Amino acid sequence: MQYERLVQWAKTTWEQRWPGRPYHTIWASSECSNMIAQNQLRSGRKLRGKARYDGLEVLDCPVIVPISDYGTRGKKMVLTSTAGAYAFKFSAEGYDPFEVIYASSYFDDDVQDLTAVALVPSDKLETWAAFEFACARAVRPRIRRRRDVYIIGGTDAFFDPTVDWDDVILPDDLKRDLIEDMEAFFNKGVHIYRQLKLAPFRKLLLAGVPGTGKTMLCAAMAKLAISHGRIVVYVSGSDRDGASFEKIQRALQAVTAARYPVLLIVEEIDAYLQGDDKARVLNVLDGVESPNNPEGALMLATTNYPEVIDERIAKRPGRLDRIFVIPTIQDEGHAEQMLRHYMADQWQEDHLAVIPDLIDQPGAFVREAALHARMLAAHSHQTEVTLGYLQQSIESLLRQIRAGNDFLRDRRPIGLGNSAGKAKRPTRPNPFGFRD
Ligand SMILES: Nc1ncnc2c1ncn2[C@@H]1O[C@H](COP(=O)(O)OP(=O)(O)OP(=O)(O)O)[C@@H](O)[C@H]1O
Ligand SMILES: [Mg+2]
Repeated sequence: MQYERLVQWAKTTWEQRWPGRPYHTIWASSECSNMIAQNQLRSGRKLRGKARYDGLEVLDCPVIVPISDYGTRGKKMVLTSTAGAYAFKFSAEGYDPFEVIYASSYFDDDVQDLTAVALVPSDKLETWAAFEFACARAVRPRIRRRRDVYIIGGTDAFFDPTVDWDDVILPDDLKRDLIEDMEAFFNKGVHIYRQLKLAPFRKLLLAGVPGTGKTMLCAAMAKLAISHGRIVVYVSGSDRDGASFEKIQRALQAVTAARYPVLLIVEEIDAYLQGDDKARVLNVLDGVESPNNPEGALMLATTNYPEVIDERIAKRPGRLDRIFVIPTIQDEGHAEQMLRHYMADQWQEDHLAVIPDLIDQPGAFVREAALHARMLAAHSHQTEVTLGYLQQSIESLLRQIRAGNDFLRDRRPIGLGNSAGKAKRPTRPNPFGFRD
């Protein structure tokens, strides 16, 4: 819905109801079409400046499909933001009654914020401002919002922020650094950015080969962010629309419109750094087009292809504030922790024998090996997953990876573009990220 269409409709309506009367066309507060405000502000309510609110008339507007949001207020479920068209009626001592023609609608499915316009008699802006103020007061304290996660480019199935922090098995200092960065930014950094008159927008990159747990880490960070009352905006380039700057733009709109601190997750950011889009993404990173959410926005971007995040990004201060390398399994302690986690109740001490095979592999490899071993045992009607099944599983997984690599090595000239996105990424010898 473009605001122009709302204004066009409002002008025609105005000329029918108040022909010739001068008016201002203004952006209006969406809170005037919030059901909480409308139920609370009754006809006869006195407004500042000796004016009185005389109630509303619902207007039929062919360009708006009325729809309401809802949420809890106290223990009750109530309707809240509502797209619709109204004539708000006012009177003031010694003056003729007058109306404000008002229309609100959603601009975009992903940005759940109403766009509202109003036609106000030229000499009545003060009364209207008093009414908007009263509506805003009625709506606050804000209703608990219904959505914590906005997904751009995909469905809810694309991202599930329910991962527990403890289930992400990575070196402790890495996890600690990451979480400290997020908390320091939201708790102290936002204020400092604002003092320096900078938009509070911090940018972190998680770089690592496939399957090391970057997406999982994002989900765990999102869960933590939500528990602190922050909103999560997740951008995925893996739906059929691929990676386009338009998605980034929609995400930035959502970040700016959210009246809460935001964790913005951009998966596979390298896919957006192509062609004409690249300059625009760089502008966002540089601050030219970056979102200004006074509550603060932290971007968590991921990539498998740090080489695409070239020097211009990595080495220019300010484009990315920090790069976290998410490693494959580096030592036996880490390998054992991961294997125990995925073997769970099937863990046996002699499984330790495969630990050396897990060094340099990503977490996803261990998960696959453990799952497959359990399936092999179950298939043979065994209740125990012996070391033999685990070894067999690891062997077959490695064989599969080698076969995949041989296949892709032969086809290398074609390249390994991201089929969903527009990106032509550099070829990699091992598309699975596993050690062969
Ligand atoms: N560090 C880890 N700790 C626990 N589980 C892990 C870890 N890394 C990977 N896994 C397991 O492997 C699965 C795949 O990992 P994930 O999708 O997070 O990897 P990724 O780094 O995002 O890969 P890609 O670069 O291909 O997107 C996870 O859902 C999880 O089950
Ligand atoms: Mg991922």
